[in-house]
Amino acid sequence: MSLLEEVGHTPLIRLERIARDCRVPVWVKCEHLNPGGSVKDRIAKAIVEDAEARGLLTPGATLIEATAGNTGIGLALMAAARDYRLVCVMPEKMSQDKRRALRALGAEVVITANAPPDDPRNFQQVARRLAAENGWFLTDQFNNPANPAIHEHTTGPEITEALPNLARFVAGAGTGGTITGVARHLRRAAPHARVVLADPVGSGLAGLVMEGRMGPDAAYTLEGIGARKVPETLDLSLIHEAISVSDAAAYAMADRLVREEGLLVGGSAGAAVVAALELARRDQSTAPSSPSSPIAGIATRPRTSIPSGAGRTGSSCSWSRYSRSGCRRPATRGRTCRLRSRARRAGSPRRSPAP
Ligand SMILES: Cc1ncc(COP(=O)(O)O)c(C=O)c1O
Repeated sequence: MSLLEEVGHTPLIRLERIARDCRVPVWVKCEHLNPGGSVKDRIAKAIVEDAEARGLLTPGATLIEATAGNTGIGLALMAAARDYRLVCVMPEKMSQDKRRALRALGAEVVITANAPPDDPRNFQQVARRLAAENGWFLTDQFNNPANPAIHEHTTGPEITEALPNLARFVAGAGTGGTITGVARHLRRAAPHARVVLADPVGSGLAGLVMEGRMGPDAAYTLEGIGARKVPETLDLSLIHEAISVSDAAAYAMADRLVREEGLLVGGSAGAAVVAALELARRDQSTAPSSPSSPIAGIATRPRTSIPSGAGRTGSSCSWSRYSRSGCRRPATRGRTCRLRSRARRAGSPRRSPAP
């Protein structure tokens, strides 16, 4: 069996400790157990196979993507297995770790200026220009329909097969491929299930879902999720509700997922679980007689350095403010968090790094 056949079919794990006191079962789909360590392996494989099927890739072709992280890793696995060349375009603000990881996997890394989206030096624009000039294949995760399609045909069915009475599905959105694809499947297979977006405080998407206009712009450091522009691959009309989660609450939950559940996941998984626990609490108070319909969230991890507090004693965030007994709201919103101020002092980006 090849490594690429191991993409997908990830386990669903019930949160036994963190959600111990919730009568509503909370499950997480362990996307961090994909070969490249993230949910993005699915789209890397799907996008390349779709391009091959359409005759767009000749032997030895060059793939190019504007990515700083997980999609690049997934594409690097595909490129190695199929003898393609891979160029990853990333802005200079991204960490040396990420450059090293991509280079170690055989990708060539092009560094661009930290420029806004409408600037020709912006990394997405540079990737598009290099693809056009050189005849390289732009994998284009923010626009490629193969991205949501693979989640519609694999991630979604894997979840409903295991949890046919699913009540809610929670995920963040970077490209939106995961939440859009799973939501499309749920609309057919589990039409009673509600789809909930876990969105970083400072991203505009939660405001669009809840009020029809972008939420307030603010700095956040969560990787891979949140946006201030709706990508082609994100269909907000399929999302019933959004919950905003602060960096501090998401990282603190990621710490708990590592330490209490043994799930080596990052901030985006933490954000999904914060939102899932909020929903579980709400469901058991509004429908106390039928609390058995489960909630599922997506767990994945960024390429480097997260979870924030793993390996330290006493996270600088709000770890200690969580109730150890389970479903209590983290008391972090609106508080100053050392992690965030440290990130600001270090000049970290205002926006979440690209998926
Ligand atoms: C760690 C992590 N979580 C979640 C996401 C969001 O997934 P999607 O792009 O399918 O919305 C990404 C995207 O790269 C990611 O890297």
